[in-house]
Parts: sequence; C-alpha cells; structure tokens
Amino acid sequence: MDLFEYQARDMFAAHGVPVLGGRVATTPEEAQAAAEALGGGTVVVKAQVKTGGRGKAGGVKLAHSPAEAADRARDILGMDIKGHTVHRVLIAEAATIAEEYYFSILLDRTNRTYLAMASREGGVEIEQLAVERPEALARIPVDALTGIDEAKAREIVDAAGFADDVRDGVVDVVQKLWTVFTAEDATLVEVNPLVKSEEGRIIALDGKVTIDENAEFRHPGHADLVDVEATDPLERKAKETGLNYVKLDGEVGIIGNGAGLVMSTLDVVAYAGEQHGGVKPANFLDIGGGASAQVMANGLDVILGDPQVKSVFVNVFGGITACDEVAKGIVSALGILGDEASKPLVVRLDGNNVEEGRRILAEAAHPLVTVVDTMDGAAAKAAELAATGKA
Ligand SMILES: Nc1ncnc2c1ncn2[C@@H]1O[C@H](COP(=O)(O)OP(=O)(O)O)[C@@H](O)[C@H]1O
Ligand SMILES: [Mg+2]
Repeated sequence: MDLFEYQARDMFAAHGVPVLGGRVATTPEEAQAAAEALGGGTVVVKAQVKTGGRGKAGGVKLAHSPAEAADRARDILGMDIKGHTVHRVLIAEAATIAEEYYFSILLDRTNRTYLAMASREGGVEIEQLAVERPEALARIPVDALTGIDEAKAREIVDAAGFADDVRDGVVDVVQKLWTVFTAEDATLVEVNPLVKSEEGRIIALDGKVTIDENAEFRHPGHADLVDVEATDPLERKAKETGLNYVKLDGEVGIIGNGAGLVMSTLDVVAYAGEQHGGVKPANFLDIGGGASAQVMANGLDVILGDPQVKSVFVNVFGGITACDEVAKGIVSALGILGDEASKPLVVRLDGNNVEEGRRILAEAAHPLVTVVDTMDGAAAKAAELAATGKA
C-alpha cells in the first residue's frame, strides 16, 4: 500500500526524521485556517495524490498569506494529476532551499537485498538524471541483517559525494529513515527532495512510503492509513469478511477454493468466453479451505453485488472440506440471500464426497443453479449464461 505524502510525513516525524510543519485541508477555507495555524507566513500548498511529478503538474504552489493559501487550494483541489483527482492538499511550511538531494531505500527483489540510493542532485528531474547520468545516483546494497548503522550511512553518504558541511546531518537522517523502513515494514521509503535549508538544516520535504501489507498483522495502526474512499466498495466488504477478493473487469463472477484453482478457473473462463462474444472473469474470489455456508454466503453476496456480473461460476474441489459440506453451503447461502440472489449460478464440484454433494444440489433443485461435472463444461456454461445476460 502506497501512502500519501502527508501520511509519510507523519511517519517520518514519529521516527525523528526532520520534517516541516504541515496540516491537511479538503477545502479552501480549511487551507486558510491551516496556513493561519502554521503562523500565517509563507506556506506551500501541495496536492495529495499517490503519484509523483505533482510539482511539474502544477500541484505544488507557494502561498505568501493564508488568503493566498485558500486561493491556491481552490486551484489545486479537484485537479487531475495523471488520472488522480485531488481531494486533499497538504499545507506545509515553506523551506528556504539551498540544495536538493535524493535518498531512498527499497527492496531489491532481483538481488535479494535492500538497496539505498542517494544523489546530491535531487528534485523534480531525478528520473531524467537516473537515465542520463546514472553515475550521479549512488546505489549501495544494504544487508538485511546489519541494516544501516552509522558506518553504513557514512558509506552511502561518501558514495553519493555529499559535501562536508552536510555529511553528519545526512548520516543522521539516513539512519532514521532506515528505522522508518524496518519499524514500519516498508518496501520503499523515498525522500525527494531531501533538502539543505539556507540555515544548513537537513529536512525531508517530500516523502513516499510503500507499506508491506503482508506485515499488517504487526501494525494495527496501519489500517487507519487505508484510503477508504478510493477502495472499491466490494473489495472493502470482502476484506471485512476476510475473503480474498480482487475485482476484475468482466461478466463471469468466480468463486473457488484455493488460489491455484481460482487462477486456473480465470483461464478457462476467459478461454470459454471467447466463444461467447468475449465475456471475461469479473473477479477473483478465493473462499479458502474451510468454506462454511456463511463463507459461501459472504462470497456470493460480494459477487452478486457487482452489477457487471451476469453469471457466477462456483468451482470447488473438495478436500478437507468435503463436497457435501460445500453443497450444503451453497444451498443455505442461497437461502440466506433470498431474493438478493438473482443471477444464474453454475456449480462444478469434484473431489472428496462429490456424489453426495451433487445429490444435495440436485435435491434442492434451486432454479438459479446449474450443476456441470467438468471444469471446462462449467466454464462454457457460465460464459454462455453471461453472454445471454449481457445481451
Ligand atoms: N515545503 C516546501 N517548501 C519549499 N519548497 C517545496 C516544499 N515542498 C516542495 N517544494 C518544492 O517543490 C518541488 C516539488 O515538490 P514535491 O513535494 O517533491 O512533489 P513532487 O515530487 O510530486 O513533484 C520540490 O522539489 C521543492 O523544490
Ligand atoms: Mg518529490
């Protein structure tokens, strides 16, 4: 999960990384009040969107008074920056910048290590610099076990060729950013620009942090960082009930048990869909191993809530949870959902206790349910029903 700049800034502050004062605003009036609260002097109004290049796109503007901050916020709120609409601005104290540097720590998957990158020439042209003069961007591998201690920080600072007057300051900030990286379970911490102010202070003026969601169990507080408005409502609902759900763009809703089975189901549905005007999978939904009736109901509820879905393919391989349990689950899920279940379901069961499972479905004879014995056959049926529903 990527964070907004203001969230990264808060995280930096919590770990002692020097940042400037700032407040978030969602309206010009709030922006004005924020600028006043920051002392009424010059501030920078900054678009909060999860993409870089905000400065170049006109999303970062100086304002010399609170009234001007309101005007700049009016300009920036609602702006579209690379497909992201601006809903919030950060009102930040303005730095008097003497020099702009670049610093980042990231997970280097290819080399199975962490990597620190640093440059004396940071700022809005860093991408161009990386391409045209890669030697100006130092890259230093960081061992996961030893991390960035003072010696490592000095090695980084030397490799990037920082001037003597800022070396100690940068060494200190780099170590604190490593603390952010590890303590918050980040996969990226980037500061561009890291600046030297006219007074010689080292300050993180912009921050980008990516959090490793696999570590969320260690960080209950990270849940508050989720941009709830931007999350697909069905994905949110699925998450609340602990389902593994990803929304896709097609018409055939898919429920399976186990990620491998669900992935191959996506393939067979996409393939079958080619025969039916190109219908495609509408989602990925893995109900996991112990799929009870309630879990099946939750899954169906999420999928049927997607207006794009025209048919649903339930593909279950009975293992620890036997097919008769799954069949009972489907029948009672349809009972729980009642009239909310309104789209045709194609069910394919195989594996442990499959005969009993099929018997239960046959006996229930629910008008929406079609049982097909093979995966390919069921995919073809689901695609056909989706195509009919679409027409
Ligand atoms: N608080 C600030 N005070 C003074 N200048 C700033 C401040 N924040 C950003 N800037 C200037 O604006 C430029 C772009 O801002 P930045 O936050 O890096 O956004 P982005 O990287 O999305 O363009 C920075 O390189 C810096 O020169
Ligand atoms: Mg930046």
